[in-house]
Amino acid sequence: MKKVRKAVIPVAGLGTRFLPATKAQPKEMLAVIDKPIIQYIVEEAVAAGIEQIIFVTSSTKRAIEDHFDRNFELEYRLRQKNKQSEIKDILRISDMANFVYVRQKTPKGLGHAIFTARELVGDEPFAVMLGDDIIDARVPAIKQLINIYNKYEDIVVGVTRVPKKETHKYGIIDPIVIDENSSEIRRIIEKPSPGKAPSNLAVSGRYVLTPEIFDILAKGKKGSGGEIQLTDALAEHVRRKAGYACLYKGDYYDCGNKLEFIKATITYALKRKEFRGPLKKYLKQL
Ligand code: G1P
Repeated sequence: MKKVRKAVIPVAGLGTRFLPATKAQPKEMLAVIDKPIIQYIVEEAVAAGIEQIIFVTSSTKRAIEDHFDRNFELEYRLRQKNKQSEIKDILRISDMANFVYVRQKTPKGLGHAIFTARELVGDEPFAVMLGDDIIDARVPAIKQLINIYNKYEDIVVGVTRVPKKETHKYGIIDPIVIDENSSEIRRIIEKPSPGKAPSNLAVSGRYVLTPEIFDILAKGKKGSGGEIQLTDALAEHVRRKAGYACLYKGDYYDCGNKLEFIKATITYALKRKEFRGPLKKYLKQL
């Protein structure tokens, strides 16, 4: 069995939900406390044993490439000031994984973004992690999916429960429950209205896929919003073969959404020793 070694992270989107903050910087570079959103996601991948990160980018995303590269001038200046711990932190970022980049030249949807990475992925299973979805979990969420992949050797999507009235924002699965954390997928639909949703189990930014998905995506069939949807390709794969869902243990934050971004910031700040006490006090006072 081939090991999951690569993760595709699509980051080509414009981030219009976060304007004006994203007018001149990628949404993935917004910081939750002192670390860009995208670094949380890369750290999750690396903690799960991923060795290569494939970013699907666009022209406005150069800051992401710079973030995961060396910055000699900064290193030099930090060395002059003897800021050893900062130097270590900065160097660690570029050493975490092997980073490669491919451009999505036209914004044709998530399915098309993943298809853009096909040559870099090659003939092996791979993870997909959406660039603004942070999952706070003890065992990295993508690792939980990989464990299920290793059992069934077929596609796995990460799901979380959402309020029924919000199903129109997500891919939703119709599950055949296997156990507490895994299901077989009977059906998967992109953004159904609450009346049409088969459950409240929403696809939330994590997938393990096999290269078979590229043959389906190659057809370029348009779906919801006139875009080439990854969910539609998954639905076709499930019809042809099978597919699984992992109800991972962890808390999901869609950081492309302002309120979720604020919640993520508070959650991560409360985990930090230097902020926990004063922040709790401040929140109570509010
Ligand atoms: C995408 C997927 C959707 C998924 C969501 C959150 O939608 O198409 O199936 O539920 O991400 O992971 P988007 O948020 O890009 O509209």
